[in-house]
Amino acid sequence: MWDRFLRACRREPVDATPVWFMRQAGRYMEEYRALRKKHTLLELCKTPELATEVTLQPIKALGVDAAILFADILLPLEPLGAPFEFAAGEGPVIHEPVRDKAGVDKLRLFAPEEGLGYVLQAVRMIRKELDGKTPLIGFAGAPFTLASYLIEGGGSKSKDYAITKRMMYREPAVWNALMEKLAEVTRRYLLAQIEAGAQAVQLFDSWIGALSPDDYVTFIQPHVKHILTDVQKTGVPVIHFGTGTAMLLELGVDAKTPLDWARKLLGDDVAVQGNLDNLLLDAPRELLAARVKDVLHRGGHRGHIFNLGHGILPETNPDAVKFVTDLVHDHTIARL
Ligand code: CP3
Repeated sequence: MWDRFLRACRREPVDATPVWFMRQAGRYMEEYRALRKKHTLLELCKTPELATEVTLQPIKALGVDAAILFADILLPLEPLGAPFEFAAGEGPVIHEPVRDKAGVDKLRLFAPEEGLGYVLQAVRMIRKELDGKTPLIGFAGAPFTLASYLIEGGGSKSKDYAITKRMMYREPAVWNALMEKLAEVTRRYLLAQIEAGAQAVQLFDSWIGALSPDDYVTFIQPHVKHILTDVQKTGVPVIHFGTGTAMLLELGVDAKTPLDWARKLLGDDVAVQGNLDNLLLDAPRELLAARVKDVLHRGGHRGHIFNLGHGILPETNPDAVKFVTDLVHDHTIARL
């Protein structure tokens, strides 16, 4: 069934539980490492033919039920006016971190076709290659997670987002101006991806767990709403992913939140995605299989998309990823 992923997003009956993996394209795959020897990560992202090739690698190798566009949540920073690089061994480095009003004022809104035309071209090319056999997920970073990179100048060194949260608490006007710009760019970008052919979109708020629910409501939620109101009007499923939290919508649940518990909290009209701990992929097969079945049991028959709690790690054995993909399908087909 080509659309079991989309059907599960809409909580319609499926022949088997759909499965895909965050970071399903990446360094754990030999095919990916071979391409990375010849190109930088940004070259892969900026060349639609290469981004298409990488997007398709896990589709061919694993038989997963959805493709995710190969890109990065940080790509919009460059057209916004905050160039960055992926430094070897260090992760992203933003050359001029945004720390005050002048920094926020310098950021400019842009039309996605102009600033990120290469991503939209990749979306069109991937859809053509997939030929209606596998749905394509587009994505973007959510304002808090993007802001954390912009403000910290890269990943948070202390892991507690101190510089980011200090701006949020002490300079709410500057904070809101920054969030408004990031939200507007993200709103336009997701709508453009959908227009180009993305059949679902995921909003990555990877580091939102650094905030309390009250802070979320005050400092974040209005900006997320600005993005999602229009995106949801398109009718395309939206997956809202965060770690260290459990909120909103079709929800990607991290590995520390039992899925049945999340489902109880969310009620019956949303689908849930997740949430095997990514390190279980390195566990002995017996434990791995038991935990996969536990996630399937908690996820239920309807409206569950199997995934990890966070992305596949570079050290993971691809055989384990294939093992889980097949197990999810075999186990849930047998259930019918
Ligand atoms: O297969 C897929 O999941 C699609 C492609 C994808 C990438 N990044 C490619 C990538 C997606 C969806 C992302 C999202 C992303 N990027 C997030 C949110 C998801 C999450 O993991 O929480 C974040 C926080 C980023 C920012 C980012 N990109 C960091 C911090 C790093 C460096 C850390 C690391 O893993 O090396 C990246 C680099 C990056 N983006 C890689 C890939 C495959 C590493 C590969 C490489 O260097 O070749």
